[in-house]
Amino acid sequence: MKKFSILIAGGGSTFTPGIVLMLLDNLDKFPIRKLKLYDIDKERQDIIAGACEVILREKAPEIEFLATTDPEEAFTDVDFVMAHIRVGKYAMRELDEKIPLKYCVVGQETCGPGGIAYGMRSIGGVLELIDYMEKYSPNAWMLNYSNPAAIVAEATRRLRPHSKVLNICDMPVGIEERMARILGLKSRKEMTVRYYGLNHFGWWTDIRDKEGNDLMPKLKEHVAKYGYVVNDSGDNQHVDASWQDTFLKARDVYALDPDTLPNTYLKYYLFPDEVVANSNPNYTRANEVMDGREKFVFTECKKIIEKQSTEGSALHIDEHASYIVDLARAIAYNTHERMLLIVENKGAISNFDPTAMVEIPCIVGSNGPEPLSIGEIPQFQKGLMEQQVSVEKLVVEAWITKSYQKLWQAITLSKTVPSAKVAKQILDDLIEANKGYWPELH
Ligand code: NAD
Ligand code: G6P
Ligand code: MN
Repeated sequence: MKKFSILIAGGGSTFTPGIVLMLLDNLDKFPIRKLKLYDIDKERQDIIAGACEVILREKAPEIEFLATTDPEEAFTDVDFVMAHIRVGKYAMRELDEKIPLKYCVVGQETCGPGGIAYGMRSIGGVLELIDYMEKYSPNAWMLNYSNPAAIVAEATRRLRPHSKVLNICDMPVGIEERMARILGLKSRKEMTVRYYGLNHFGWWTDIRDKEGNDLMPKLKEHVAKYGYVVNDSGDNQHVDASWQDTFLKARDVYALDPDTLPNTYLKYYLFPDEVVANSNPNYTRANEVMDGREKFVFTECKKIIEKQSTEGSALHIDEHASYIVDLARAIAYNTHERMLLIVENKGAISNFDPTAMVEIPCIVGSNGPEPLSIGEIPQFQKGLMEQQVSVEKLVVEAWITKSYQKLWQAITLSKTVPSAKVAKQILDDLIEANKGYWPELH
């Protein structure tokens, strides 16, 4: 069996140790000969890398391991780049969330003005990774889950249309795991789903077991009462109280269209007033993550480095991230796995912009994804999606042409923003906060 060389870009990410543990747990399915970490922040990455080195020494000493900030060293001799960078790190996420909240607008990592600001930072960072990959390992594939995935995907469509980049999100995976629990199934893989939308903006229309039995009625019964709240979710990423609120809120999002089951992120667009009312403008999700996951992961890594052993470590396998292995395997072994990916519509949703980047089921093989046909979507979803996809396209247009006007239009068009006046106030604050990260707008 061929063994693969993997590069994790954004090596200093809080998700890196969980993903490395997951990769080691899946070596029988996806053998690895070399594992490298790449980041632009050496100090941050060194802590994660120091712990990963010990983990590998204990669990798989045969795998060559390296952490670097040098692009040539990182991207040379690589089969897959797993990219999860956060340009501006949590310090900028905090501002993305807090600036809109000052104006009583949703402050969120990927939705509304915060997501737009993050998009303006991410585009350049992700394009740089693609260019390094193509320079040093032209046959490699990038599996990208750097956010905001919708805007990043549109930017890759516009600016790197021929690059081997697959954009994927873990939210449907996480929700489907909950659905499997609701149904009493062992795994989400026992379900075949139909789903459509944009990233962080979609709906399930059909869910069946392998015999073809319709599972939607039982799921709807649960979601109508409890949203996606389940007793034992098996998900160790979305565990904080704020995530529980989001899973419960899916009940109200579902009520608006009981023909489908919603992605949790729709709450930011459909109940923005409530989201703002329940937000603390001085302590947002970025603060929760910095005080929670970031502290936890870095403290545990430092302990491992100090002891030179993982004994007693509380770091856990991010098993739900195994969708990344499924994707890499689909490319490497031509498995034709059916997965939700963010791809160009090209008629899959027949009554929707063919150039939109949509999240839909695809059959993935060694040539990449083949999207399934969705057909026509209803007026409600179509209207929402047309507005949101226009926001995403305008952001990318603004980045390319360095246009203040387009970005003002993008923020104004977001369903989370009440007026052009508020949009301008937020934009002007965001420009100030993002100096050095955004192109200079004129
Ligand atoms: P993090 O801040 O802990 O890690 C991100 C790392 O990226 C940092 O170490 C930072 O130094 C590095 N980085 C920033 N700019 C870079 C660049 N230009 N080149 C190389 N490295 C760079 O963030 P996190 O919370 O662990 O999340 C990482 C990313 O994964 C984020 O974009 C997050 O939104 C995304 N994410 C996506 C999904 C999904 O469903 N698609 C799921 C989870 C996380
Ligand atoms: C989900 C989404 C990701 C997002 C993450 C945020 O997994 O799919 O795109 O980055 O949630 O989680 P956090 O714990 O950082 O708020
Ligand atoms: Mn996501």
